[in-house]
Amino acid sequence: MRAHIAVLPGDGIGVEVTAWGARVLQHVADAYGHTFRVSEGSIGGNAIDASGSPLPDASLALCKQADAILVGAVGGPKWDVGPPEARPEYGLLRLRKELRLYANLRPVKAIDALVESSPLRREIVEGTDLLVLRELTGGLYFGRPRGRSANKRGIRVKDTLTYTSGEMERIIRLGFDLARQRRKQLASVDKANVLASSGLWREIAEQVAEDYPDVTVEHILVDACAMHLINDPRRFDVLVTENMFGDILSDEASVLAGSLGMLPSASLGRGRRGLYEPVHGTAPDIVGQDKANPLAAILSVAMLLRHSLGLEQEAAAVESAVEDVLAAGLRTPDLARGASGERAVGTEAMGEAVLERIG
Ligand code: IPM
Ligand code: MG
Repeated sequence: MRAHIAVLPGDGIGVEVTAWGARVLQHVADAYGHTFRVSEGSIGGNAIDASGSPLPDASLALCKQADAILVGAVGGPKWDVGPPEARPEYGLLRLRKELRLYANLRPVKAIDALVESSPLRREIVEGTDLLVLRELTGGLYFGRPRGRSANKRGIRVKDTLTYTSGEMERIIRLGFDLARQRRKQLASVDKANVLASSGLWREIAEQVAEDYPDVTVEHILVDACAMHLINDPRRFDVLVTENMFGDILSDEASVLAGSLGMLPSASLGRGRRGLYEPVHGTAPDIVGQDKANPLAAILSVAMLLRHSLGLEQEAAAVESAVEDVLAAGLRTPDLARGASGERAVGTEAMGEAVLERIG
């Protein structure tokens, strides 16, 4: 197979981990006889420094031409000034919006070898296997009007939470479809006791449920969901929710996987083209120290192979290579718990070890 992949490393450890994502792609290409053309583009703070924009036109054009996009992470204290549109994060938000990538898949699995890496007890996390399905192009992140105004009495700020029924229905439907491919349980997460938007969300979820009699659906309030996630995570299979709730719940859920450094994500739209990125951020405190965990980026590459290129066997090979290195005891600092049998490694040694085990 031939494919064109855009790689946008972004800022901080995003640069370090996407380098490993790109190496894994190349290795898979060599091992399985594919040709992947990789083109690099800029996004985020580095793009602001180089060209004044967090998503330069050239990067957007590159992503529109590519079959799939691998992103690192964006942001950092250096760029935490000015209005939202001038910040690194806006580059990523605009890219999601421009490419209409409305569905964000964040699988959270408690890999057996890492159960002790979670701050939660083994009997709680063991066996966790859930998918957070987050709506990605609506809600508070994009609603207008927004901004601030001032008068004699002080400053007033405004964000707007808006959704159309169509935007809600397509993500909820995808939640049911994905649940059908898994354990057939869907948790629809809302705040229907308070928000008008959530009221409609719940109505639509109830309507769509009629088309999926084989899927068990539960409606759950987001605050209760946050509690159940760390109290009894095994009760969840697929969770579907709006943009902001999904952002928060997916970081929380990462604790179940041992570390935020383990979580990959896929952002999909109607076609095959998708954007793949680790859920973690740029971690400015450990940049350039060979400490970043490259596994979330590598697992994002596995999702890319599966969802955009349809290469299931290759995706599974990458995932099992990751499980193998963890079973062998390799631990980047975010995963280390000082237990016997652990081998402390850095980004480079972890990446090399995964490469050795693929194909
Ligand atoms: C994420 C991140 C982003 C988001 C930021 C960087 C804009 O937190 O992908 O979860 O809030 O969506
Ligand atoms: Mg987030």
